[in-house]
Amino acid sequence: MQNKKLAIAIIGYGKMGKAIEAIAVAKGHTVALKISSQNNAELTRANLQQCDVAIEFTNPHSAVENIKTCLDAGLPVVSGSTGWLEELDSIKKYSAEKKGAFLYASNFSIAVNIFFEVNKKLAALMASHKDYNVEVEEIHHTSKKDAPSGTAITIAEQIIENYPGKNKWVNDSVIKAGELNIVSKRIDPAPGTHHVKYTSAIDDIEIIHTAHNREGFAGGAVLAAEFIKDKEGFFSMKDVLGL
Ligand SMILES: NC(=O)c1ccc[n+]([C@@H]2O[C@H](COP(=O)([O-])OP(=O)(O)OC[C@H]3O[C@@H](n4cnc5c(N)ncnc54)[C@H](OP(=O)(O)O)[C@@H]3O)[C@@H](O)[C@H]2O)c1
Repeated sequence: MQNKKLAIAIIGYGKMGKAIEAIAVAKGHTVALKISSQNNAELTRANLQQCDVAIEFTNPHSAVENIKTCLDAGLPVVSGSTGWLEELDSIKKYSAEKKGAFLYASNFSIAVNIFFEVNKKLAALMASHKDYNVEVEEIHHTSKKDAPSGTAITIAEQIIENYPGKNKWVNDSVIKAGELNIVSKRIDPAPGTHHVKYTSAIDDIEIIHTAHNREGFAGGAVLAAEFIKDKEGFFSMKDVLGL
């Protein structure tokens, strides 16, 4: 990982933006631009070009436009906004056309990215044990705008790829055969809990990740910004962590 100190644009100066600022500054980086909904007219090409990299954590409605603005300005961009995944492929294409650098992760926590690898392995190991039902549960604070969480969708997609009994995820109380249920709970102040549970009449196997605060996500986002600074292409936390 490089040691160069970065001038960072933080787009979305909310709970995550502030946690990212604290870690970036503690590592010696500078926050050269801070954007919230109040001052988003300042998200200009000229202002972005004063920065080395942008970190975008806003919401499902503004993420795509913010990422495109950074790519248009030639600035590498790291985004953690969730709830807009249906447009991810078009943004990857946009970034490639601009010869830009773009990194997206539904979850920047190092431990959650290790959890993702354990989840894939567990689903593959359970594939021939048809007596089990599997379910995903996510718990977040009540101000979260999207459900299910982006992390829960990643976890569900990994299970569907590796566990033949499930072919589609749903976020519903009524489940049909072959559907993988994601249960979403909103309880304050939970920063993010994800739980995968295989159950049978005989026994259960469970894996769980519980975030105690936002530091893990924020630290991962700063690592991602350090990683992407001089690169071109699309990246994920797997690339940052070498998983
Ligand atoms: N990938 C991960 O690891 C991870 C972890 C945690 C959260 N998240 C996601 O990150 C996003 C932000 O979460 P949060 O908890 O920080 O939310 P938050 O506290 O609500 O902060 C959102 C920020 O975005 C700003 N904003 C809204 N519209 C904007 C626009 N058009 N341009 C620029 N800024 C705008 C808001 O400004 P105002 O304050 O003026 O409204 C606020 O500062 C969510 O999508 C959440 O799901 C991802």
